[in-house]
Amino acid sequence: MATKAKKAYELKPVAPHRIDAPGAVTEMPTPREMHHAHIFTDKNYDAMVEFYQMLFNGSVTNEHVHEGKHQLAFITYDDHDHRVVVIKQPGWGTKPERPVGLSHIAFAYSSLGELIFIYKTLKAAGHPAPHWTVNHGNSTSLYYRDPDGNEVETMLDNFSALETQDYKRFYQFTEEFGEMSEGNFDPDKMVKLYESGVPDSVLLDREQVRKMAREGTL
Ligand SMILES: [Fe+2]
Repeated sequence: MATKAKKAYELKPVAPHRIDAPGAVTEMPTPREMHHAHIFTDKNYDAMVEFYQMLFNGSVTNEHVHEGKHQLAFITYDDHDHRVVVIKQPGWGTKPERPVGLSHIAFAYSSLGELIFIYKTLKAAGHPAPHWTVNHGNSTSLYYRDPDGNEVETMLDNFSALETQDYKRFYQFTEEFGEMSEGNFDPDKMVKLYESGVPDSVLLDREQVRKMAREGTL
C-alpha cells in the first residue's frame, strides 16, 4: 500500500553524476563503483535488517510493504540512498546449503582498528564468530554469516590500491606465497596483539602473520 510522503518533500530537477552528450561515450564504460546488493530473505527478515544496520552502523532509508507480496528495507551506510536491500519473500524458505551463485559480498574498511571494532561489536551482540579469518596478502579479511547464512566479508587492503593489485597479479598463489591457509589467524589473538601495541605494519604483513600463526601467537 502506498503511503503519503513522510515529510514535506519538494521534487527537484534530476542531477546525475555527469551528462554525456550524444556521441560523447565512445568506448565501453567501466562502472564507477559497485553500488548495492539485493538479498532475498523470508522468516529472518527482522534479524537480517537488524544485522546489516549493525554491521554498517547504518540506517534504513525506506521500508515498504507490498501487501500480499513482499516487504523490503533499503539500508545505507554512506551518502547513497541504499547499499543493501533486504527483501522478505514469504514462503520462499531458507538458503540451500551449497547454493550455486553469488558467494559473498565484501565491504572494505579503512583500518585494522575498524575491523577489530566490528569483530568485538558483533561478538558482544552474541553474533556467531567469523567462520574464516585470513591474511590473503592483498587483504586482511574476516568472513561472517548473516542470519540467513549469506557470507559477508569485512576487509582491509594491506597496501595502497595499485600495490594491492600488483600483489594480486604477480605474487598471490605463487610458490613463495605458500598455502592460503598459512595466513589464517585467531581473531581473539589478533585483538590482543593489536591492543597490546603491536603495530599494524606487523599485524597486516602476511609474512609476519604466517610466522606468528606458526608460533601460535596469532
Ligand atoms: Fe572476497
